[in-house]
Amino acid sequence: MRPMNPLHTNLLVTGGAGFIGANFVRAHLESSPTSRVVVLDALTYAGNLANLEGLDANRCDFVRGDIRDTPLVCELLRRHHFRALVHFAAESHVDRSILGPDLFVETNIVGTHSLLKAARLVWIEEEPGAHRFHHVSTDEVYGSLELSAPAFSELSPVRPNSPYAASKAASDHLVRAYHETFGLDAIITNCSNNYGPYQLPEKLVPLLIVNCLLGERLPLYGDGLHVRDWLHVQDHCHAISLALASGTAGETYNIGGENERTSLEILRLIVSEIDHAFEREPLLASKYPNCPSASGRSCAELVAFVRDRPGADRRYALDISKARRELGYAPRAVAGRAFEAAFRETVRWYLTHDAWWKSVIGGQYREWVALNYENR
Ligand code: NAD
Ligand code: DAU
Repeated sequence: MRPMNPLHTNLLVTGGAGFIGANFVRAHLESSPTSRVVVLDALTYAGNLANLEGLDANRCDFVRGDIRDTPLVCELLRRHHFRALVHFAAESHVDRSILGPDLFVETNIVGTHSLLKAARLVWIEEEPGAHRFHHVSTDEVYGSLELSAPAFSELSPVRPNSPYAASKAASDHLVRAYHETFGLDAIITNCSNNYGPYQLPEKLVPLLIVNCLLGERLPLYGDGLHVRDWLHVQDHCHAISLALASGTAGETYNIGGENERTSLEILRLIVSEIDHAFEREPLLASKYPNCPSASGRSCAELVAFVRDRPGADRRYALDISKARRELGYAPRAVAGRAFEAAFRETVRWYLTHDAWWKSVIGGQYREWVALNYENR
């Protein structure tokens, strides 16, 4: 294992109360026992302090605040003498960007620019020296791939199709520009679809699991044959640590799982895991009485093909050879049995963490679901 560079040990983490941010903070504190982290998070509908529960408060400080608040970010960098930050904070859901794009421009573009301004002021103008700005981005910036086309490389044209993807692409451009123009030590990782614990049930995997358990319909957009490259969140977090420690300033790295699956395949895995879990554990029937498997039927009966997203991307796939070569990255849960084991473990996590997901599917969430799925 590479020794941890002290520069990358103590970190400001934006969006650390969200899905990937929280998994990253947990992994970072565990793998680097002397490290300290300050999480800056606005606790939007997607942020949840429960995602950080159990962490040592002496090593993980939480600040509720907005990344658009440049003076606050400067103050945090100065006060804690941090020389590195990992930027997760974003509006991250494509469906929401279709219903309301403005917030995506505000958070993802203006917010990222605010962080860049703060980093430039503190790390370049006030106290010049080593520093690192790690921007967490997405494969969606490349747009959609034909089924037979080779995977996207870092040199593929940027052709975002949704307002979400466009706002992330714009933020990537700003990060790159701050490196080229002002000498900011910045790197970008563009990652594929994550699954794992603490993901809000508005995204495909947790939404399908929770709906199975509640006996609600399983909405598959279009023909259900859209392809995504599924990666366990811990693999993504590991890749971020590698890039933070040894990525080259100004570079972009694709992070994927080499694990392409259709939404229908993902749904079948979930249904099969839940049906089997109910067969093995009779107590689940009393815990989730509305789940079809509780009465010996299959969750497959809940499947509903619904209207697709406008401008839906058919396929994403990433060529990860640069990250393999330059960072020593490899997805640990790669295609085949390893993926299925990691995926089953994720389904189990939601089966046993119902208190967590029940707490996030309350009033506001219900309103959003009604709006998103009405007339679909
Ligand atoms: P998420 O929606 O679960 O979490 C986003 C977090 O950002 C929340 O905690 C929210 O409160 C916070 N936030 C939002 N606006 C803020 C603001 N103005 N100031 C401070 N905090 C704010 O997102 P996620 O799925 O964990 O994604 C994290 C990052 O990774 C995003 O940048 C996303 O684009 C990127 N990404 C996600 C995936 C994926 O599969 N989920 C894949 C590739 C890249
Ligand atoms: O590729 C990386 C991206 O992955 C991240 O940048 C985004 O933040 C993250 O949300 C995710 O975007 P997707 O749009 O690919 O993920 P989502 O889970 O929303 O949808 C995955 C696929 O499943 C997509 O083809 C749409 C489909 N889908 C989604 C939902 C919510 C359904 O069929 N039914 C649904 O109800």
